[in-house]
Amino acid sequence: MTLRPYLPSGQVTFLFTDIEASTRMAQALGEEYRPVLHQHRAILRGAMGAYDSAELLTEGDSFFIAFQNASDAVTACVTAQRAMDTHPWPTPAARPRVRMGLHTGHVVPYGGEYASHEVHRAARVASAAHGGQVLCSGATAARAELPDAAWLLDLGLHRLRGFDDAERLYQLVAPGLDRHFPRPRTLGPASHNLPAASTSFVGRARERSELRALISAHRLVTVTGPGGVGKTRLAVEVASDLISAYPDGVWFADFAATSDPALVPVAVAAAFGLRPEPGRPIGETLAEDVSPLRCLLVLDTCEHHRSQVAAVVSQLLAACPRLTVVTTSREPLGLAGELMWRIPPLSLVPTGQGERSDAVELLLDRASAARGGDLRCPDELSHMDRIARRLDGLPLAIELAAARMRVLSASELAERLDDVIGVLDGDTAAGNLDDGSATEGQSRAADSRVGPDWAAADRTGRHRTLTTTVGWSYRTLEQRPARLLRQLAVFAGGVDLAAIEWLLGERCLAPLAVLVDKSLVRVDDGPGRTRYRMLDTIRAYAARKLDAMGEEMAARDRHVAWCLQSLCGDGYLSDAALSDAALSGSALSVAALSDAAPLVEPPVMDSLVEEVRQALHWSAAGGDVRNGLRLAAALEGWWTRGHAREGRVWLFRLYERMAAIGAPVAGHELAAAYLVHARLAGADGELGERTRFRRRAEQAAQGANDQILAVHRASGPAYAAAGGIPA
Ligand SMILES: Nc1ncnc2c1ncn2[C@@H]1O[C@H](COP(=O)(O)OP(=O)(O)OP(=O)(O)O)[C@@H](O)[C@H]1O
Ligand SMILES: [Mg+2]
Repeated sequence: MTLRPYLPSGQVTFLFTDIEASTRMAQALGEEYRPVLHQHRAILRGAMGAYDSAELLTEGDSFFIAFQNASDAVTACVTAQRAMDTHPWPTPAARPRVRMGLHTGHVVPYGGEYASHEVHRAARVASAAHGGQVLCSGATAARAELPDAAWLLDLGLHRLRGFDDAERLYQLVAPGLDRHFPRPRTLGPASHNLPAASTSFVGRARERSELRALISAHRLVTVTGPGGVGKTRLAVEVASDLISAYPDGVWFADFAATSDPALVPVAVAAAFGLRPEPGRPIGETLAEDVSPLRCLLVLDTCEHHRSQVAAVVSQLLAACPRLTVVTTSREPLGLAGELMWRIPPLSLVPTGQGERSDAVELLLDRASAARGGDLRCPDELSHMDRIARRLDGLPLAIELAAARMRVLSASELAERLDDVIGVLDGDTAAGNLDDGSATEGQSRAADSRVGPDWAAADRTGRHRTLTTTVGWSYRTLEQRPARLLRQLAVFAGGVDLAAIEWLLGERCLAPLAVLVDKSLVRVDDGPGRTRYRMLDTIRAYAARKLDAMGEEMAARDRHVAWCLQSLCGDGYLSDAALSDAALSGSALSVAALSDAAPLVEPPVMDSLVEEVRQALHWSAAGGDVRNGLRLAAALEGWWTRGHAREGRVWLFRLYERMAAIGAPVAGHELAAAYLVHARLAGADGELGERTRFRRRAEQAAQGANDQILAVHRASGPAYAAAGGIPA
């Protein structure tokens, strides 16, 4: 290397270097800084001097060098960085980290210097680099031959301060050089680091404009909702709509893979292209560098490290008056001034051109991709609507369902969704092997065992199955909320706090609030009492946990008891009352059981129907048949309003189960059920069945030593006219 007498001409490659955070390093090292600076210069000159080059400027800790040949410049940088790395610096804090930037352009020196914009471009490339990193422009990349085992990593287009065009930057990668750096330190209009989606974005017109308006009005907006509902997808979509509104860019950091909470501020800094400086808390660096910027920061998956994210966000908002933050989290950060916005699942209401809902559009799109063809045949469409509804419009579940449509038709899939986890996750995940208790890395390893789900191949561990998605939230619960979540699985739909507390036999507000905060339970606050409900997919997960914990039998029996109590009130039909009546052979038992109307009005009965169906299902499958018969009888007022057939089906199922397990049912209870059955058969015009069941009722009542008159009174005069018991 020569000093000035010779200056390369023509296609010249310029190198700028300087030490990262040199001012702070000088302050920290004091007298020790001078020898460090000296050794750094010696190392750089040693590496550069081997080539045809000219040192133009050395100022403080910076170098400006011109090379006649781009390949020489690149090789010299590799040599210099390796030498810096292996040099025995007195302490780790005294190891200078040198940033280097290369650019090649056509220049002719004049008066012993270069007066060209190419020099400025080279300087900007260097200032975009981090300590230890070598960046080069597209022009250098095109001309340089690389040393052995070296290659160039394309970092994409960047705006360099002072230049209108975008420059493609490359990072030199070679053995012995650091490989991992935050994105280059380039900030400029319309710049961002938002992740690119590999699938199309569907619907959400209303939510998109709502969220955009909230972001313009509030400095901290948290998009919250259960796993897989589409928080990240919508936040990224809206953030990209807003790129032009933030002159200093839109920056994105995701904490899904951040295992150490202490690394949260580092991840945020990396989004801005900043790295920790020796001896300085990263929070300070962040606050100082971001404070003048008007930019949007999108922080994804914040529930992973909620309190650490909250701390960084509150520090940044205080220090950076023009910063806006959007977070996605299953649970709000809990900061003052945080605007919490709950994202709903995809709409199930048909809209737009094709009169299809957003949820069906997503299913169609992904199923078409899965099958490699168009699926818009009207027959499948109606089943698709059923599937989307059954999955509550949850985008993740819809995508998993679409994957299943490679092997099942829409109607077959719709039929099987009663076991939503079994069908969508497949046996391995459903068997709880993969419930998210593994780390992302472990769960990816386990993924290879799950095997057949081709469509999940590019999903992150957390989204591979419903089990892993919900399991992640479940594992964060303490004992009481976890137990409550499991127990809530027995309810078919939304219920009020009183019902929940009845079921659990204890006060539940505190654990319920936890479940609501973590987006595992939704609040429906319409007129009247607040109701709490779970998405079907979450309920399916909770039900599996309930079973696995050996709590299912007791919880479902209690749910049946709650249904009975809700329909019939306290005392009436209670176990104690019934067994008293049975012991005394009460003459009123049959009439009381079959004839007395439930205490609730029809609208209340309507609201209980889904719960009673669930309870009947349990009674006919694994619970107490007697309770099932009582329930079926208690719902007579509803069956006879156009649902008699369904009532008969349930009764038949209960008799079947009674016979299969030899369940002991007292004669008077059986007689009551048979009487209701006879009335339902009559309502359906099944006269033979009506007569048959009246006879059975009579026999059962006689067997129970009940008064025939009571049966007669309960069954009405038509029975006597048909040849039954005389009036
Ligand atoms: N509007 C949409 N259009 C297309 N795909 C969507 C849409 N919303 C969600 N998805 C897809 O559904 C899946 C789940 O969405 P997303 O990752 O945004 O959920 P999330 O709420 O962020 O979940 P988590 O709480 O686990 O982070 C993703 O594969 C995503 O691409
Ligand atoms: Mg997300």
